[in-house]
Amino acid sequence: MDLLVIMDPLENADPDGDTSIGLMAAALERGHRVRHCMAGDLSLVEGTVRADTRIVVGSGGVRFDDGRPELIDLADIDAVLVRTDPPVDTDYLNMTLLLEFARGQTLIVNDPRALREANEKLYACRFPDLMPATLVTADQAALCAFAAEHGAAVLKPLDGHGGEGVCLLKPGDPDGPALVTERTAGGTRPVMAQRFLPEVYDGDRRILLLDGVPLGVLRRMPAPGEFRANIGLGAVADVVDLDDSDRRIIDALAPALRADGLWFVGIDVIGGHLSEVNVTSPTGLRQLSRLSSARPDLTVIDWVEERSRAR
Ligand SMILES: Nc1ncnc2c1ncn2[C@@H]1O[C@H](COP(=O)(O)OP(=O)(O)O)[C@@H](O)[C@H]1O
Ligand SMILES: [Mg+2]
Repeated sequence: MDLLVIMDPLENADPDGDTSIGLMAAALERGHRVRHCMAGDLSLVEGTVRADTRIVVGSGGVRFDDGRPELIDLADIDAVLVRTDPPVDTDYLNMTLLLEFARGQTLIVNDPRALREANEKLYACRFPDLMPATLVTADQAALCAFAAEHGAAVLKPLDGHGGEGVCLLKPGDPDGPALVTERTAGGTRPVMAQRFLPEVYDGDRRILLLDGVPLGVLRRMPAPGEFRANIGLGAVADVVDLDDSDRRIIDALAPALRADGLWFVGIDVIGGHLSEVNVTSPTGLRQLSRLSSARPDLTVIDWVEERSRAR
């Protein structure tokens, strides 16, 4: 395969932990040609999407080769992995709109339309039965009342990732109203409030799904003094088995994910509740590959190869 990975700068990615690097390394291991570009390297010339790409080489670690950038038509590429990190801002949306011009000409993972529509925090709200109590609003009094009603609430920006801006709102906390004012930009920006699930201290389960099928479960334990179980915030991960509530959540989600073209996603499960569906650049694949005897990274690449062949 000739495979293009659209992501952030290669040099900013953690060579050992980054899932995009892990996917590139797995593709190289399988003998595929691997290219890198960033959202801003896409162009549209007379209706044809092009990308200014660099060839990636290496085994274990990856790096650019010594060659010059190559301008390619996306139609000539077997598959494109879209792995740009949030925020899903105007630049991100424009990238997905340019990718629309390559629809039907190459396999795009995940589907650009789904990337526009499936906000990572809000997608889970399509499944209220699977989620903890959740409110999205800019109404400051309603947010404080929600925290009081549920004992405590987690506030989340709708466009964050990696635990950024995720904080705890405790009823009666003297700093609570100021926090809510700040997070809602003075009552003008809706945020998500979710019932605080104390089970998070037993771990936040990251389940990576490929075509609706689980690749494995990474249980992430928050660092001491922290409730956010993001690996970038010092959470420690181990690999655990799927349990019944994981299966129930996956069974409910899988048909929607497939219908939307959300082929590679990471769901977060806390205390048997779905808390978010990561669709832009789900992480944890490298840790899963390292900590388990399986090779889910190769599974993803082999699936991409099979799908792109079948097209
Ligand atoms: N409802 C909740 N109850 C307890 N902890 C939560 C809840 N929602 C999120 N968290 C904690 O905050 C972390 C980050 O929240 P998450 O919704 O996954 O956003 P992000 O996209 O920033 O990872 C989670 O890994 C979890 O540890
Ligand atoms: Mg998360």
